[in-house]
Amino acid sequence: MSNHQDSLYNKLNTYGQGEVYPFHMPGHKRNSQLSDSPYSYDITEIDGFDNLHRPRGVLKESMDMATEFYGTRRTYYLVNGSTCGILSAISAVVPQGGTILMARNCHKAVYNAVYLRKLKAKYVYPRKLPDLSILGGIHPKDVEDMIVANPKIKAVVITSPTYEGVVSYVKAIASVTHKYNIPLIVDEAHGAHFSMSEYFPKSAIEQGADIVIQSVHKTLPSMTQTALLHVCGDMIDLNLVERYLSIYQSSSPSYVLMASIDSCIRDVREKGPLGFIKYEENLVKFREKAEKLTHLKLLDKKILGKGAAYDLDLGKLVITVGSITYTGHDLHEELLKKYKLQMEMAASDYVIAMTSLNDTEEGFDRLIEALTEIDRDIRIREGYGQIKALKEDVAENDPTDSVDKAHKVKEAVVCMEVYEALDTETEVCDFAISSGRISAEYIYLYPPGVPVVVPGEMLDRATIDYLLKCKADGLDVCGQMDDTLNEIMVIKENWKEFSYGKNILPDGQKLLGEGYHI
Ligand SMILES: Cc1ncc(COP(=O)(O)O)c(C=O)c1O
Repeated sequence: MSNHQDSLYNKLNTYGQGEVYPFHMPGHKRNSQLSDSPYSYDITEIDGFDNLHRPRGVLKESMDMATEFYGTRRTYYLVNGSTCGILSAISAVVPQGGTILMARNCHKAVYNAVYLRKLKAKYVYPRKLPDLSILGGIHPKDVEDMIVANPKIKAVVITSPTYEGVVSYVKAIASVTHKYNIPLIVDEAHGAHFSMSEYFPKSAIEQGADIVIQSVHKTLPSMTQTALLHVCGDMIDLNLVERYLSIYQSSSPSYVLMASIDSCIRDVREKGPLGFIKYEENLVKFREKAEKLTHLKLLDKKILGKGAAYDLDLGKLVITVGSITYTGHDLHEELLKKYKLQMEMAASDYVIAMTSLNDTEEGFDRLIEALTEIDRDIRIREGYGQIKALKEDVAENDPTDSVDKAHKVKEAVVCMEVYEALDTETEVCDFAISSGRISAEYIYLYPPGVPVVVPGEMLDRATIDYLLKCKADGLDVCGQMDDTLNEIMVIKENWKEFSYGKNILPDGQKLLGEGYHI
């Protein structure tokens, strides 16, 4: 490869040879069997090597092997990530302009499908985990309530597990959707290792979902961009899935990536649950040692049964900070700069370390030793007495509400469909005074790419303050035109003419938000 001093290749090479330990994706942890140059495998659809879009030979055989291993109706290889699987699944199941019920905490790929297919989106909100700033699962009853209220819904999409590893009760949600003859799509991008051993939750494939999408590159030893789309239920038209896969996937799928999926699946299939034993032992040992920490805490199975959390992926190390002087971003920076441990992401009050079966015992030891030292430093500074509870934002909740209700997330005011908001006249507004205006942009924290603000939603004071605080805490707030978050694109004053506008305010009433002048 190019050896230019400033080349990306050189930068990657230097990083790869350095001592920074990767507690992040991809799951092969830069430690794979692929010791030769990837260039030697990089071919195109020449004789004998089949065609991903019309598989008849070696690729068909490989996908047949995967289909049998996962016990699905059909498993497809994806080289454009779970992103293209999500776009294809939704396009195949909901007709253009149709109505979809989606979890509000879905990845932006789901919103992009909604935009491209001009869908009407109804939202089901995840519950909240008590005393934490982390979202819980999707409650089956909330799904049923939404289906009953919106009989035009053609499909339901949820994310399970979430980025933090929280798993919803997929089996019960599938029973609900099937009762109304509606297919369930589960974005299981972070659960490609599920069902591989008893230590991890059961995959949505086994829980009755109709389509399941998994990023093998996230939690299994496979290269970035590799993913799987599993069709499980009879309700799905395979021809439509294949039509959309050929639209959303490259017409030159990389053989390096496809060989990586093939070899990853053969490997886990051959080793079976035994292949995960060392990994499980490392996790158990790590979690036992983490019990002794005072301020820093690991998200664990004590959350189950609360906030619609049905199960938890113990491979995700969600480390909450519990300090009054130290943020998730501080922890992320200290782990990287002082201990050379690269985390997957930082939120205001926690960080996530992603692990996989390719992690080493030495990696886990380095992380727990670093956390133990950092925890001791916080204790010396703050003492035992001041452990900050990570309070949920439920100030508006009536304390006499039932527990169920108190753990509901505040719902956004939707004024327009996403496609209407993205394709109509906009203007620029000061972000700090945009309360009452309708956003024409997404705003999300990256990772994980779940929008905090969706185009067509009304901005409000609490959301604006939250995002400004995230920015001040050093988090990566992005998606919008102005990276500094000083300004935001909003809809011009004609928003009340669109889908929802008429229903939001009684006729003739004017909304006097700070940035709204009519
Ligand atoms: C929940 C979820 N779904 C889908 C995706 C998209 O996956 P990919 O990067 O494989 O396209 C991501 C990526 O981070 C994700 O977190």
